[in-house]
Amino acid sequence: MKLSSANINVMVKACRKASKTIIRDFGEIENLQVSLKGPGDFVTASDKKVEKILIDELQKARPDYSILSEELGEINKDKSYRWIIDPIDGTANFLHGIPHFAISIALEHNNEIISGIIYDPIKDEMFAAEKGSGSYVNNQRMRVSARSKLKDCIIFTGGPKQESKDRDLSIKEYNNFSSKVLIPIRKLGSASLDMAYVAAGRCDGFWQRNLNYWDIAAGIILVKESGGFVTDFAGENKYIENRTILATNTKINKEMIEILK
Ligand code: IPD
Ligand code: CA
Ligand code: CA
Repeated sequence: MKLSSANINVMVKACRKASKTIIRDFGEIENLQVSLKGPGDFVTASDKKVEKILIDELQKARPDYSILSEELGEINKDKSYRWIIDPIDGTANFLHGIPHFAISIALEHNNEIISGIIYDPIKDEMFAAEKGSGSYVNNQRMRVSARSKLKDCIIFTGGPKQESKDRDLSIKEYNNFSSKVLIPIRKLGSASLDMAYVAAGRCDGFWQRNLNYWDIAAGIILVKESGGFVTDFAGENKYIENRTILATNTKINKEMIEILK
């Protein structure tokens, strides 16, 4: 990988260590599908194990940094630096033996995301970005796609979550979007990889409502450093507060906003 700052190295090392556990546990899932209880508890335990490895590694290298992690919550220390962690993003895929999930880690400095990595352990793809230094997948520089006409695009989305209060709204948005544009719309089940794929130019845009910060923190810097746009559904930069995120290449952003209205 071309990025080699000390913090990126710390994140990559933690990820590689945790991914050994993920890969081993993923290998067990198949056997558990046929058991009466299913793999639910096993996956929850796996999630927590992976999170612990990540946090231990990150804390060993940077004992003073604060942490926000999906399972554990917050560890408040030095307020100026904070790791944002999703140990397994795409748990439903993991649980069903579908090899599409990732570890996502971002680093904030003074409330701004300055670096992020998303690691797909099964495909061994390390997506990484650092503010001002670009974004890479393994050794390859990433750029968002150049497609300018929505009719040629492939778009990702996700959700809604069963328990979400905005469930009906999400369904309405999906139905509205898919009836207006007759293009492939995919739900691959890992928001972090959805964002990484926008950054890599594999898909042209991604929208989703009600994601949590750890789902998208690393993805945000990946898309930005690949030259893409990250906005809310209104085209503003309040995607965290409004909990609507739209990540696109530079060409289709306006058209997507019009259609999502
Ligand atoms: C989920 C995934 C999924 C998205 C859900 C998230 P998890 O994260 O990112 O793609 O649609 O809203 O909660 O639970 O697998 O970490
Ligand atoms: Ca997640
Ligand atoms: Ca998760």
